[in-house]
Amino acid sequence: MRAISKTFGGTTALSGLELSVAPGEFVTVVGPSGCGKSTLFNIVAGLEEPDAGGILRFEGQSCHAAELLGRVSFMPQRDLLLPWRNVVDNAILALEVEGAPRKEARARALRMLPEFGLAGFETQYPHQLSGGMRQRVALMRTFLFERDLMLLDEPFGALDALTRAMMQRWLLDVWQKYRRTILFITHDVDEAIFLGDRVLVMTARPGAVKLEQAIDLPRPRRPDVVTSPEFIRLKRTLLETIEEESMKSFRSAEAPKVSQ
Ligand SMILES: Nc1ncnc2c1ncn2[C@@H]1O[C@H](COP(=O)(O)OP(=O)(O)OP(=O)(O)O)[C@@H](O)[C@H]1O
Ligand SMILES: [Mg+2]
Repeated sequence: MRAISKTFGGTTALSGLELSVAPGEFVTVVGPSGCGKSTLFNIVAGLEEPDAGGILRFEGQSCHAAELLGRVSFMPQRDLLLPWRNVVDNAILALEVEGAPRKEARARALRMLPEFGLAGFETQYPHQLSGGMRQRVALMRTFLFERDLMLLDEPFGALDALTRAMMQRWLLDVWQKYRRTILFITHDVDEAIFLGDRVLVMTARPGAVKLEQAIDLPRPRRPDVVTSPEFIRLKRTLLETIEEESMKSFRSAEAPKVSQ
């Protein structure tokens, strides 16, 4: 993405954003609330068109945002499970929309269930599942829609710390197995470092990339890596940058424009 900007009425969500992601890379994105992270994902998913002048390239080709629709898999910020569909039928939703025969799609989902910690829950409905399980159903739906690039918008945001740590390790295992490219938004700096090959820190709105930090911690990442001196050093650098940007966005939020 080169020189990407996006304005909604009087709000400039993104301005001059530059970003590239290599095949197989796991890139995490952190930044103050409202800085345009979800907007960035909506553009990459083909759901929003950036303002004129920006350049999008995908798999070596220049393209318009709309052409990206259906070429990446996307887990939006809310899990968006359909309450009237059971686990398997929620998981195959994207395949179904794409026109896959339901029977085949269900068979594929059933094979994947154990890996997502959902064996035996195939006929349960979302209200019968825990928060962590609902997130895994939404993730399974995203994995089943086989695209090289996956966008995950705060997939673990609603989880408690223990479940979250478990899900992070699990996601790295599945990522190593399926070898997808992942762009992952989070508010949690530890999570961003633990998962990522690279962490992008965004500026306060209008959002752009403020800092790109390579994470050279060895893989597979062990749970105790979070106490290593290298991890702490990275965390300090990132926190300082994020703190600066959060203060900016807080100050501008405190002083809303009088005329709208
Ligand atoms: N469809 C829309 N119409 C109008 N304004 C929008 C729209 N989508 C986003 N915005 C505005 O763009 C800005 C960025 O929103 P966005 O959802 O991308 O932020 P975010 O970084 O994902 O925030 P959070 O961390 O809270 O999820 C906000 O000011 C928001 O109000
Ligand atoms: Mg968001």
